[in-house]
Amino acid sequence: MNKDFLTLGIETSCDDTGVAVLRGEREILAELLSSQIKDHAGFGGVVPEFAARKHLENILPLVNAALNRANITGRDLNLIAVTRGPGLMGSLMVGVMTARALAQAWNVNIIGVNHLEGHMFAPLVDLKLDELVPPFLSLIVSGGHTQIILVKNFGEYKLLGETRDDAAGEAYDKAARVLGLPYPGGPEIDKLAAQGDNKAFDFPVPLKNTREIEFSFSGLKTALLWRVKKLQADNIELDDKIMCDLCASFQRAVTEALAAKVKLAVKLTGIKNIAVSGGVAANSALRSALKNLRGVKAYLPKFSRCTDNAVMIAMAGKNNFDRSQSLSKNFSPDPALSI
Ligand code: KG4
Ligand code: ZN
Repeated sequence: MNKDFLTLGIETSCDDTGVAVLRGEREILAELLSSQIKDHAGFGGVVPEFAARKHLENILPLVNAALNRANITGRDLNLIAVTRGPGLMGSLMVGVMTARALAQAWNVNIIGVNHLEGHMFAPLVDLKLDELVPPFLSLIVSGGHTQIILVKNFGEYKLLGETRDDAAGEAYDKAARVLGLPYPGGPEIDKLAAQGDNKAFDFPVPLKNTREIEFSFSGLKTALLWRVKKLQADNIELDDKIMCDLCASFQRAVTEALAAKVKLAVKLTGIKNIAVSGGVAANSALRSALKNLRGVKAYLPKFSRCTDNAVMIAMAGKNNFDRSQSLSKNFSPDPALSI
């Protein structure tokens, strides 16, 4: 293992432009992120065309700033790791084409990284090299995905189960819209839920008792919508207390659904270690539920690395590079890439 190996990570799959420099396996020399949350908030969600344009504005200044912070030049790099999918086509294109041009100009190796494999690496960044090694389970809970994966080895993954419809983050975002809260909904609901009674409303816990590792969140969002409509029809004002109770109760149902299937996956595989990642891994109820789940050891990234970032892409790219026999410099973005 070469400790001085330098990787530049680039992440532009959705609405965050991330750039990071990694030395060796896990030493972070620079970690920068430009979030577009405020740019898209007024539209109630990410506007793809606008996101791509913002990435284009941000990417080169961020690369320069990251190299400066790491005190290196582009030619010192050994590898550029860039997200090639899944994600929004225009956003991915900005990252991939920039990475390809820089690799060509600096004569550096380049590798395309699966964004989901990136998330899988996020909880490992702050751990010692031997602290969590395969086989382990990986729960990815983001705006686009809700999956439990068996990591047999790095590069050897088996999808154990996923959502039938909405992803957990998507459910939070849609629930927030029902409640008139801003985008992204997860952090808003999390905040209000902290002051609410999570048993005030009896929302169903989707698929809790099935024997499959599977999720479904669209019915839960509809249950929330009907409850709000009923309150309005009964002339009950959605005051602060009711809003907090609705958020807490909705959050309890999502959390119980996720925790139930983590328990099932542990039971079916006999593997108790689970790495958790994706934006919803920042959710306070989910974090405490998973930490307290008997017979399960959950590894959670720090808050800033739950959501999209380039450190996880650099790390997954370096790990992939070490395993690769041959590399193609001419890969294209793939919006529908799966694990
Ligand atoms: O992983 P991520 O940054 O992007 C995707 O790859 O999708 O996840 C974003 C999602 C959004 O749906 C957002 O509402 C959700 O993560 N999220 C949260 C929290 N923070 C972000 N959901 C629940 N609780 C949170 N604290
Ligand atoms: Zn993501």
